[in-house]
Amino acid sequence: MTETTYVPPPTDAPTMTVALKIWRFDSQTGERELRDYEVEAPEWACLLDVLDLIKDKVDGSLAYRKSCRMMICGSCGMRMDGRAVLACKERMKPIVERGHVPVISAMGNLPILKDLVVEMGPFWNKVRAVKPWLDSGYDEVPEKERIVSQQKMNVIHKEALCIMCGCCVSECNSMESDPDFLGPAALAKGFRFVGDVRDHADVERLNTLNEEHGIWDCTRCYFCNERCPKGVDPRDAIAKLGAESIKQGIDHDMGAKHAKWFVKSAETTGWLRETELVPKTQGVISAIKEVKFALKLFRHGKVPVPIPPHVAENVREARALHDLVRQQGRDGALGIVQGEHALGRIELTEWAGSRPGDET
Ligand code: SF4
Ligand code: SF4
Ligand code: FES
Repeated sequence: MTETTYVPPPTDAPTMTVALKIWRFDSQTGERELRDYEVEAPEWACLLDVLDLIKDKVDGSLAYRKSCRMMICGSCGMRMDGRAVLACKERMKPIVERGHVPVISAMGNLPILKDLVVEMGPFWNKVRAVKPWLDSGYDEVPEKERIVSQQKMNVIHKEALCIMCGCCVSECNSMESDPDFLGPAALAKGFRFVGDVRDHADVERLNTLNEEHGIWDCTRCYFCNERCPKGVDPRDAIAKLGAESIKQGIDHDMGAKHAKWFVKSAETTGWLRETELVPKTQGVISAIKEVKFALKLFRHGKVPVPIPPHVAENVREARALHDLVRQQGRDGALGIVQGEHALGRIELTEWAGSRPGDET
């Protein structure tokens, strides 16, 4: 481990001593090393400012990306203590006050080129795969502009906030096991156009997004919602794509069949009848193949007897809720509950300077 220190000439501006550990990597030689750095930085400095000071005063060979310095361009995605962040969003003062020395590394799920710079080619290929442009379906350009109400644009408001930083992709569990999974950023972009009233290719888009490596391959771990610095909540966008697919009758994937069966079982009995999941969604032949496994579960008390189906005491409430959702026309994307509350909690704890995991 190499230690490098820079102490600037004294000034009147209040400063603090910031210590960082940075994973350096050279893809040419394959060399990887965790180096310690320490600099005097203004108290208002964010992580990106500290990296700039290190590069300017201590070690010019440090590589990272940046551009806007104001959470707009999406260039400065990296990991701090193993979690993806925008370097220009992370204030260092609360971290310094806790005496914590964060470990900085490159984003996950993308090949590292040098130090904190990752190869974004695979990321952009997936974004391109979802046709990230409006397909109006018009053969001729209309003479007058077509006005769309704010209410209709609100449907895609969150997805339109995406700055393509890749922080969600960095933390995606599905992508770790299946690098071909389209991933949260591309899928959020997909909903940005599926949900746009001006777009006329929604069915074609949904069919593409229902293919292998598409929406149903998401494990619903919600890490993308947790780490997105712009509040896009990509997992919610994926849920909306699933709901829209089922609404449009695009339900050939097993994931869609499972979702439909769970709605049906909740509506009819007020319970999720998992015992019937296989015969109802995969067919009788598959169910017969699983009999041995089912008997094993039954012997260990893991599954209830399926017949007669257990009906919840207050099943009418579940049915009334189901009817209400239908009456309100919330059976597609509009029925998906947004994740603002979870995001609000994260922002709040950040301000308090006590994010779980920072101290590790
Ligand atoms: S919720 Fe789905 S898309 Fe989001 S990080 Fe988890 S697996 Fe990836
Ligand atoms: S969804 Fe959020 S984390 Fe993912 S690329 Fe867009 S802004 Fe970044
Ligand atoms: S430098 Fe542009 S988002 Fe951080």
